[in-house]
Order: sequence, then structure tokens, then C-alpha cells
Amino acid sequence: MKHFLDIHTTPADELRGMIDKAHAMKTARAGRPKGAPDDDQPLKGHMVALIFEKPSTRTRVSFDVGVRQMGGETMVLSGKEMQLGHGETIADTARVLSRYVDLIMIRTFEEQTLLEMAEHATVPVINGLTNRTHPCQIMADVMTYEEHRGPIAGRKVVWAGDGNNVCASFLHAAGQFGFDFTFTGPPTLDPEPEFVGFAREKGSKVFIERDPFKAVAGADLVVTDTWVSMHDPESAKERRHNQLRPYQVNEALMEMAKADSLFMHCLPAHRNDEATSAVMDGPHSVIFDEAENRLHAQKAVMRWCLGV
Ligand code: CP
Repeated sequence: MKHFLDIHTTPADELRGMIDKAHAMKTARAGRPKGAPDDDQPLKGHMVALIFEKPSTRTRVSFDVGVRQMGGETMVLSGKEMQLGHGETIADTARVLSRYVDLIMIRTFEEQTLLEMAEHATVPVINGLTNRTHPCQIMADVMTYEEHRGPIAGRKVVWAGDGNNVCASFLHAAGQFGFDFTFTGPPTLDPEPEFVGFAREKGSKVFIERDPFKAVAGADLVVTDTWVSMHDPESAKERRHNQLRPYQVNEALMEMAKADSLFMHCLPAHRNDEATSAVMDGPHSVIFDEAENRLHAQKAVMRWCLGV
């Protein structure tokens, strides 16, 4: 059983294989209509359940389209509409769904929900985001960096802002793909020490730098994300904005990065909060390639899970 639960729990050589497969699959269907099937149909006869307990645009559409391009079928389920949202246990839900479908993707709040789903399912489970990590996003981000600039190993990646779930998966990727990582943000929003520790144990240089201009100096890639995540209370918004305003990615900050640096944001963005429109639509930005590559990277993840 191959669950795709997190980047740090998946062997590095298998992550590399998925990225390479994603590039190959993207190249193979270049120029085709989005709805056209792939030449090979590895998911033919397969049913995939896509469970969302939180909102989604990219994850929902990219998984759905990806399954269809590979010949499979999907059912998109909202947590609230399932018995899961009305008291049925995660374990029972996992056992039941495993009788109907070949693969489960779940976006949920608590990491424990994902882990329980994987423990009790008899089909592979994919992490479509929890409060702690977002591994599918970072597979797409690694793919996007390499598509534009070649191997990410040895590069300097700078995360500006909130040390959130996307930042956590970036730290996992630093360890697994061998790049260096600098976090710049307020001390109250540092990434968890466990995530930093993983990257360091794997040999990546990880720095915490409070001065965003020093942090971004010489960066190959600058990344940010929304200042208020889906699981953060609305009441925290003003405090977070005040703390994070010095870490906005704007043209002055990007000037500190290398001339050929890239800018990423997993989206959705709050334009002119965490990043200015000038940066998001500027020459360094690859945000829409990043969004597209969710599709290709996740297709490779699903093939890896199913061994097809
Ligand atoms: N980046 C991302 O996961 O987007 P959605 O929330 O729209 O799925």
C-alpha cells in the first residue's frame, strides 16, 4: 500500500521518480485540449474519491481533470454532506469507501484525520492538505522550479511570511531534494521545530532570518503564501497582518534576489497583502505554471500510489 501522506515520509528516490514522470507526462500531452485523454490510460476502470472538508479550487479541479485524462472516474465529496460530518468515524468511513473506490484523496483540518483514514483504508490515501502540511503543492512547486531553472538541489529558497502548512512541506522538500531554505517572518509564526529539524537532519542548510532583505539576498526562489490560512480564526486577521506586513514580497524585496530568481505563491492570493500585483504579474513570477503543474504532479502521484 503506497499512501502519499507527506514528503518526508516518502522515499527521496521515489519523489524524484514522480517529478520526472510528471515532466514526461506534461511534455507528452503538450498542445492538446485539456479534456483530451492521455495516450496511455493507466486509471481506466479506476474510481477516485476526492473528499473536501475545506474549500478548494486548484486541488479539486486538478485532481478531477487529472483522473479523467488518465481514463479514470471521480466522485467529489464534501465532508459536510457525508456521514463523516455527522458523527460517523473516520475509521468506518475509510473501510466503507475502500469497498467502492480505488484511491482516496482527502483535504481536511487535523492531520490525525488523514492518518486515521490511511490506517483504516485498504486503498491508497493522498494528502490534499491538512492544517500541518500540503505535500501535493510542493511536488508541483519543485516541478515548476526545475522546469524553468533546472535542478533545485543546492539552490537557495526563501520563504517570506507565515511558517504555515505549505512552508512545512517546503522544509520537508528541502531535506528530500537537497536545497537550502531560509525562513523570514515574525518569531510568533516560525515553522515548527520538527519541520526545520527534518531538513537539517537531511543535510540542508536552514536559516531563520528576521530581516527580510538580508534573507532574500542571493535567493534563487522566493515564496510566500496567504497571511491567514483556512484554519486560522478570522479574529487573528488584524494581528497577523500587522506582524506580517514587513514581510510582504514587493519589487524592492525581489531586487535583493538573484536576477534570474523565481517567485512562487501556491494561490489563492490576497493581492497587495503578502505579495504585490507587480511581483505576482512580474517577470520573476511563475504562479500560474505552478497552478498548472498541480495537475501534472498529482497525476504522477496517483500513478505512484496505484503502481500503474
Ligand atoms: N493551492 C491550493 O491548494 O489551492 P486550492 O485551495 O484552491 O486547492
